[in-house]
Amino acid sequence: MSRKVLVLPGDGIGPEIMAEAVRVLESLQHGGLDIELVHALVGGAAYDAAGTPLPAETLRLAREADAVLLGAVGGPKWESIDIALRPEKGLLGLRSELGLFANLRPAVLFPQLASASTLRAEVVAGLDIMIVRELTGGIYFGQPRGVRVRADGEREGINTLVYRESEISRIARVAFEIAMKRGRRVCSVDKANVLECTGLWREVVTTVGRDYPEVALTHMYVDNAAMQLVRAPRQFDVIVTTNMFGDILSDEAAMLTGSIGMLPSASLDAARKGMYEPIHGSAPDIAGRGVANPLGTILSVAMMLRYTFERADLALRVERAVEAVLARGLRTADIYTDGCTRVGTAEMGAAVAAALDS
Ligand code: IPM
Ligand code: MG
Repeated sequence: MSRKVLVLPGDGIGPEIMAEAVRVLESLQHGGLDIELVHALVGGAAYDAAGTPLPAETLRLAREADAVLLGAVGGPKWESIDIALRPEKGLLGLRSELGLFANLRPAVLFPQLASASTLRAEVVAGLDIMIVRELTGGIYFGQPRGVRVRADGEREGINTLVYRESEISRIARVAFEIAMKRGRRVCSVDKANVLECTGLWREVVTTVGRDYPEVALTHMYVDNAAMQLVRAPRQFDVIVTTNMFGDILSDEAAMLTGSIGMLPSASLDAARKGMYEPIHGSAPDIAGRGVANPLGTILSVAMMLRYTFERADLALRVERAVEAVLARGLRTADIYTDGCTRVGTAEMGAAVAAALDS
């Protein structure tokens, strides 16, 4: 029986980059990969068509699918609508409804791109970090939340940072399991010197760590982690952290690799069903111009093959195809450096698909 992939292009550059990921998937289908692609709307595109960023039909298809491939959501067009109906709610709703609590965000430097980083090549050479971000809890989802009027008439905004022990231990376990297959080092990032909630985080991660004596566990405050990431990023192997700290640190780590346009992500549930998406956003400033980098989305396809479909062989083929194209000097604008060949979104996608077939 063929397995289903729900394709959600979303907004901004989403449709352009997704077209290239689909091109790569189709080329794998021709090569014998038995999957069926189903398409639906999410984010601003869904709001425009159906008045909600996460239509019931999209959620139904997402539940039915084995994996979801998402482009990006959001844009200035929807910034003035009620926060409950914003495109981002489509993404957050999918994460929470599907129970995708483990967000894996690798920050890997392709050797061909060492000079595209704003950091010196010797600082980032060989960089290979896996950020494990908790994705369905913390301040993103904590109650109470909102803006209310106080008794004295002044308004106040509230969000709540809350983690249950079980939420912390399950994400810690994911991080330790991943570390066992890599460099066997986990750095847990918190703000335990100020926030009680992350004091508990530190305690629970330490307890889970006792089940993994081969893994060296360290703890770091988030402000220091932000600094260490740009000072000496290669000290990190696996970083495990809360939803919001992970959001921030993963953007920072992405920049070390030269471009946020390169990086994929996987959001997994307990049974390894997953949603896969590039970590960059919808980039409305360049949407529709055919210049966006599709490699983050194509590498998200590779993660999908590896984690949900357990086809590490095909994942590697996709990753090698991307490397081959970079080695030939093809670059989208975001990763362009002197002497390379500047290409658009479709040309880049076609080059990867061709490298796959060869
Ligand atoms: C991300 C994004 C999202 C987040 C937004 C679009 C809701 O920044 O996936 O990192 O904050 O999680
Ligand atoms: Mg983010």
